[in-house]
Amino acid sequence: MEGYQYTIMKPEKVAIITGAGQGIGLEIARKLLDSGSNVILNDLEVSLTEDAVSSLSRMRKGMVLGCSGDSSSEEVIDEMVRLALDHFGKIDQVVANAGITLFGGFLDYSRQDFAEVMRVNQAGTFFLTQAAARVMKDQESGGSILLTSSVTAHQSHENLAAYAMSKAAIEMLAKNLVLELAPFGIRINTIAPGATLTERTTSDPDYVTTWSKLTPLGRPASPTDIAEAAAFLLSDAARHITGQTLVVDGGWTAISPSPYA
Ligand SMILES: NC(=O)c1ccc[n+]([C@@H]2O[C@H](COP(=O)([O-])OP(=O)(O)OC[C@H]3O[C@@H](n4cnc5c(N)ncnc54)[C@H](O)[C@@H]3O)[C@@H](O)[C@H]2O)c1
Repeated sequence: MEGYQYTIMKPEKVAIITGAGQGIGLEIARKLLDSGSNVILNDLEVSLTEDAVSSLSRMRKGMVLGCSGDSSSEEVIDEMVRLALDHFGKIDQVVANAGITLFGGFLDYSRQDFAEVMRVNQAGTFFLTQAAARVMKDQESGGSILLTSSVTAHQSHENLAAYAMSKAAIEMLAKNLVLELAPFGIRINTIAPGATLTERTTSDPDYVTTWSKLTPLGRPASPTDIAEAAAFLLSDAARHITGQTLVVDGGWTAISPSPYA
C-alpha cells in the first residue's frame, strides 16, 4: 500500500513583549520565536531594541519587529498594537515584562521615585493589558497575557517598598481581571521571578555567591529558567490556568530564616 505524508501546520501566534532588549524579556522573546510566534519587541533603548531584533532575526524563526520607547506611554502601546495588527492581523500573546527598580529606604523615599516606579510598573502593565485585551476580545479567538511580578511581592526586602508594592498590585491585577476577561477566552497570569542573573543583577560581583547560598536549589535563576516557565503559561498547554502567579525562585520564598543557619 502506498503511504502518504501530510503536515499539520500549527497556526503562528503573534506576541507583544515589552522591556525585551536584554535580560528576561529578551529570553522570553527568543523562546516564543522558537515555539512558532511572531514577535513585536519593545525596549526603551533604541540600540538595545535594534540589537535584539537583529540577533533574534538570525534565528530564522518567525518574524520579529522592533518598537522602541517607553512601554508605559500611550503612543508606544498604540504603536505596538498597530504593528501587530498591520503585519499579522491579531494579537495572541502579551508579556508585560518592562519594570524598573528604584531602591531607597522607606523613610526617605521621594515622591518622584514613587511616581516613576508606579508609572512604569503599574500604569505600563495596566494599559498595555487593556489595549491588548480590547483587540483579543474583538478577534474572538481569545489570547494569553502574562504580567511580571517578583518575589519581592511575597517576602520583605529592604529598600524596595515601592517596587514590592507595585509588583504585588500587578499580581492582584491578573487575579482581578479573570472575571472580566475569561468570557472572551483571554487568560491572564503572572510570573514572579526570584534572583535572576540579568544585566541589572550582574553589576553586583557577589550576586552569584550570595544567592547560591540563599537559594534552596543552590543558584540564582538564569533568564532561560524564567523564559521556559513564561512560555508555558503563554502556551495552549496552560489553557485552563488563569489568574495565577507562578513563582520561579529555586525555592527561596518557600522557606523562612532558620535558627540553625
Ligand atoms: N532580574 C531579576 O532578578 C528580577 C527578579 C524579579 C523580577 N524581575 C522583573 O523581571 C522583569 C525583567 O527584569 P530584567 O532583570 O530582565 O530587567 P532589566 O533591568 O535587565 O531590564 C530589561 C529591559 O527593560 C528596559 N526598560 C526599562 N524601562 C523601560 C520602559 N519604561 N519601557 C520599555 N523598556 C524599558 C531596559 O532598557 C532593559 O533593556 C522586570 O519587570 C523586573 O522587575 C527581575
